[in-house]
Amino acid sequence: MILPIVAYGDPVLRKKAVEISKDYPELKTLIDNMWETMYNASGVGLAAPQIGLAIRLFVVDTTPFSDDDELTEEEQQQLKGFKKVFINAKIEEEQGEEWTFNEGCLSIPDIREDVDRKPRITITYSDEGFNQHTETYDGLLARVIQHEYDHIEGILFTDKLSSLKKRLLKGRLDKITKGKIQVDYKMRFPQLKRGR
Ligand code: NI
Repeated sequence: MILPIVAYGDPVLRKKAVEISKDYPELKTLIDNMWETMYNASGVGLAAPQIGLAIRLFVVDTTPFSDDDELTEEEQQQLKGFKKVFINAKIEEEQGEEWTFNEGCLSIPDIREDVDRKPRITITYSDEGFNQHTETYDGLLARVIQHEYDHIEGILFTDKLSSLKKRLLKGRLDKITKGKIQVDYKMRFPQLKRGR
């Protein structure tokens, strides 16, 4: 089932999400719905707060990034078919010299900005079977995971921009909050006034 994606301005996107146990009700259905919602919106990642749940769960599938001609064959292979569920994730370490990548977010449609992040992360998480893993990722994989991880910490990529950039974007962000935007997937806007 496709779920509405929560838009910028909703308080749920600002909550520090809580851990879940394997008894979380209908977890498998929830994860299936998150995949369906993400693919329907052509995203490479989706975090539970974006569908209104402040729990530490996000999904990532970087396959759409794998046909970028600027990547090496090895990088393309790494991104292709990288499809994972991250539950109760904790980034243990971030390393390296920050690099810039143009990020977007399904909760903030039509806005893309350059964001600086460190290139390498070590993360501990449980998969959908609640098996724990500690893994190190770099490059674009790390980037997507860092972006989704921020969501479960209540952080959005726009928080990482300069104060000038933030000021310049404010009007567009307010419009998103009010639902004054055309989006080709289902969204929930915190300040949408019906019957305009
Ligand atoms: Ni996002």
